[in-house]
Formats: sequence, structure tokens, C-alpha cells
Amino acid sequence: MISRSAFPAAAGIGLRTPHVPHVLDTRPPVAWFEVHSENYYADGGPALAALDRIRADYPLSLHGVGMSLGSTDPLDHGHLAKLVRLIERIDPALVSEHLCWSSVGGRHLNDLLPLPYTDEALVHVCARIDEVQESLGRELLVENVSSYVAFAEATIPEWEFVAAVATRTGCKLLLDVNNIHVNAVNHGFDADRYLAAIPAAAVAEIHLAGFDASGPCLIDTHGAPVAPEVWALYRRAIARFGPRPTLIEWDVDLPAFAVLQDEAATAQAILEEPRALAA
Ligand SMILES: [Fe+2]
Repeated sequence: MISRSAFPAAAGIGLRTPHVPHVLDTRPPVAWFEVHSENYYADGGPALAALDRIRADYPLSLHGVGMSLGSTDPLDHGHLAKLVRLIERIDPALVSEHLCWSSVGGRHLNDLLPLPYTDEALVHVCARIDEVQESLGRELLVENVSSYVAFAEATIPEWEFVAAVATRTGCKLLLDVNNIHVNAVNHGFDADRYLAAIPAAAVAEIHLAGFDASGPCLIDTHGAPVAPEVWALYRRAIARFGPRPTLIEWDVDLPAFAVLQDEAATAQAILEEPRALAA
């Protein structure tokens, strides 16, 4: 198995089930893959066996969608235990979750909902991140989410809230540059102001994806190529933070694997552009 310390600041691809046979058969030249943790919580079976085989040849990142980090429900220790078991098996380079909530009163919603950006929510979610990091015995990456509404009670700009989460807990950030662009358009803020507020040392991974602009606001669908405005914002993010592992996420209307490789090649070319790092 490739050591997890060999994780590169290169462009990777979010591996989805329909592409697994292709990857197993052809072992394409991809720097690393990311998978959704919850898809591998079973005790065994073909999916987990395939992941073992892929992990033998590629660095992997585990990306969770079900922890409901920001919820007021108690943390789901059964869920955490399954994640711990998967981490022990796969030895992923990175483990990430979302800065969101998706359950209330024991009922789970199939969405990653934004938090009210208040001092109270900040204290709450930081305590939960502390608890998760303690349970995992390792650093967690926390991802900024896309949103279409905001809480009237919010008192803290999203970028300050995200930065404070990293500063207070020592967690790392999975900065989704597409989500920053989507929220900047939907809520009318300056995406560069967001980037400027994020501590560079905390950024351990970047996500890129496509959105749907056909309605009254941008919808983060993960079902389209990365938009030109997002490539431009990504270029500015890399200029500010330096090269970071960057993932192409595509979940809906999944294209041929070669399309994802092309998107990853574009990200890789940006990562390799000569630049003078901002102080
Ligand atoms: Fe993302």
C-alpha cells in the first residue's frame, strides 16, 4: 500500500461507483482518489474489496456526508465507530466532513444545510469537531458548504466563521472553491474577501465542481464542468495558499472517466503554474 504520507498536492478525482470497474481494469494515471466514507461502512462485500484493491495503488481521501457536525442532536457514535473502522482499514491520507447540519430530532435530511453563523453555533460546532477529532485520533478536514438561504440571526460573515472553526479547533479546511463562488453569487459577497480571510496553513484540500445557473440562483449540482469563473477563483486561491491537493467532484449525470481526467488535468496545470506566493 502506498504510504499516506505520500499524498500529493496534485489533482485527484472523486471516484464514483460506475467508474470503479474502469479504474480497476486500467489503473489510469490519477494522482489520488476521494470516496464517500458512508459507501464503505459495510462489514465486507464487493465495494469494500474493490476499495482495498484501489487503495493498494492510489492514495485515498475519505469524504463524509453524514456526520451532521453542526446538529444539536447528539453525535452519532455508531457512525463515528464505523468511520474509525474504515480509517483503520484504508489508512486514508485525509478524512473530511462538512460544516453543516443534516439531522434534527433524530430525523435525517438528505442535504447539507448551512449553520446560523452566530457565536452560539460556532461554540457548538467547535465542541463537536473537538469530539470527532478526539474520537478519530487525527485531524479532521471541514468543508464549507453551498447555500441558498441564510439565517436572519447570523452575526458573523461565513468566511470569518469558517476561519474561526479552523483556528479554534486546529482542524484543517477542505475549501470548496465552487461553493465559495456559488455562495458569493447567491448571497452577494466578494469571493476574494472570503479567500483573504482563510488562514493558508489550515487549507489542506480544495474541491472543484460544476453548478447549475438555469434558475434564479446558482445550484451546486456537481453535475457539470467547472465553470470559467470558478477556474479563475481557483487560480487566485492557489496563488494565495500555494499548491494543495485538489479534487474534481462530479456526482450527477456522471460523464465518461476521461472527462474527469481532463478536468483534473486543467487543475493540475494551474497547480504547476509558476507563481510568487503571497505573504
Ligand atoms: Fe465539495
